[in-house]
Amino acid sequence: MPGLTPFMEWMDEYRVDIEAIDRQHQGIVALINEVHHAMLTDAPPLVMDGIVRKLTTYAEEHFDFEEQCMELCHFSHLTEHRCQHREMMRRITAFGAGIQEGDRSTYQALLDFLMEWLGEHILKSDHRYKDALHAAGLR
Ligand SMILES: [Fe+2]
Ligand SMILES: [Fe+2]
Repeated sequence: MPGLTPFMEWMDEYRVDIEAIDRQHQGIVALINEVHHAMLTDAPPLVMDGIVRKLTTYAEEHFDFEEQCMELCHFSHLTEHRCQHREMMRRITAFGAGIQEGDRSTYQALLDFLMEWLGEHILKSDHRYKDALHAAGLR
């Protein structure tokens, strides 16, 4: 979004130092900024619906990729991590339903969810697999 000061910026502390994953995680920051911008400009539900569709595809691909990496290096907390991903997918599906029903409170809930994903899931759960993936030679 040229000309706009982003609501969120990517920070080094989010990095897990695996190039593909860091690139994917930057996508979350971009989605946060998209949702924030859509709320600020009072974008029509169709725009928000488009963002959630994009988020759904993003999350499916990203979770799948991370789980494959964790499987590859026999990460011991894979089951727990996979459960967290499933729960996040369930919430994303619910946001999609809320938006399609025209429930505008979904917008703030979606923004909060994405912020939580960045601040909780990436910084805590994703950072837990970092050493195991590095030890397996993933960069
Ligand atoms: Fe992740
Ligand atoms: Fe994850």
